[in-house]
Amino acid sequence: MFPTVLAPLTRQRSYGNVPQPHAILYYQQRATKGGLLIAEATGVSDTAQGYKDTPGIWTHEQVEAWKPIVDGVHQKGGIFFCQIWHVGRVSNSTFQPNGQAPISSTDKPLKPQVRANGIDVATFAVPRRLETDEIPLVVNDFRVAARNAIEAGFDGVEIHGAHGYLIDQFLKDGVNDRTDKYGGSLENRCRFALEVTQAVVDEIGADKVGIRLSPFASYSEAPDSDPEALGMYMANALNEFGILYCHMVEPRMVKLGEKFETPYSLRPIRDAFRGTFIVAGGYGREDGNRAISTGYADLVAFGRVFLANPDLPRRFEVDAPLNKYNRDTFYIPDPVIGYLTTHFFRQMYKCSLFSNLLFRLCSNWLVYQ
Ligand SMILES: Cc1cc2nc3c(=O)[nH]c(=O)nc-3n(C[C@H](O)[C@H](O)[C@H](O)COP(=O)(O)O)c2cc1C
Repeated sequence: MFPTVLAPLTRQRSYGNVPQPHAILYYQQRATKGGLLIAEATGVSDTAQGYKDTPGIWTHEQVEAWKPIVDGVHQKGGIFFCQIWHVGRVSNSTFQPNGQAPISSTDKPLKPQVRANGIDVATFAVPRRLETDEIPLVVNDFRVAARNAIEAGFDGVEIHGAHGYLIDQFLKDGVNDRTDKYGGSLENRCRFALEVTQAVVDEIGADKVGIRLSPFASYSEAPDSDPEALGMYMANALNEFGILYCHMVEPRMVKLGEKFETPYSLRPIRDAFRGTFIVAGGYGREDGNRAISTGYADLVAFGRVFLANPDLPRRFEVDAPLNKYNRDTFYIPDPVIGYLTTHFFRQMYKCSLFSNLLFRLCSNWLVYQ
């Protein structure tokens, strides 16, 4: 059976950007001996947030709050990487210090987006284009966040370079409209991502560094006109650092949460990259096994099915049926419902309510006969 990786999953239960004790059990439930867990996207600075109650790792309080969570995973023998993140323009002034504009590679704003619950609409402020000489400061935020992650006990960090967030806003020509050394050519657009990688590698060592990229995805209005070239350029450039892994999102995940038919494959990028290659996006047991046995990937990361099946590795091992995931509870702030409970327990709970009600009705009926 192939090793199953927990994909990074934002759960929005870190009140006030501080990881909470309920995350100890949540991550422990998914930890297995030697299994890799990637923590939810974690902000590198006070300008990095764009969603309520996502965790950070820039303050002492946050670092201390992560420690028992990381300990919990280690007690179960798991390997735990922290995904370090800056949302860039996928934010608005309510998430920013002093209500300032979010930063980005550009000053082009995002259109309002319907949230994952299909009801709420997120609106975004007009971003402020970073000055060239400010960019090293943001690179430094990633460096400090990586150091803090190691201090919190994490085994390494995954740089979040995917899904239309800050690093992706530099990588993709659908967003990056700069004319300085961070914009224009492919080499220039990749400069920021590679500077972040260099800084993080220098700080904690290449063997503790992974990066997540989604060249084919267009989330948050971040498409690229030549994703294959972008992926290949990054794979070759990352080889120079000797980092532990590259984690790529499948081309079929063009839009958030949906699989599409695509002529693209990660194969050429996988062949070019010399470290461990992790793939993610719409995988199940069968195609996960196939990806490993055909050498398409070294590891497969699972998101939604791991969320709904904390014992996923065991279920895969014995080919047990899987619980269905429930989108409605992905991002709610409840510390238990949809977080520590699974669909099965919810059904049991509903069943017990129903049988309780039935019992009461029957006994009332008998009493009144
Ligand atoms: C609830 C939820 C939260 C997510 N949060 C993150 C995140 O914090 N960082 C990230 O890189 N991707 C995030 N993703 C994307 C997943 O890591 C994964 O790539 C995606 O769900 C596709 O894989 P799957 O089909 O196995 O679920 C999230 C997805 C979901 C459903």
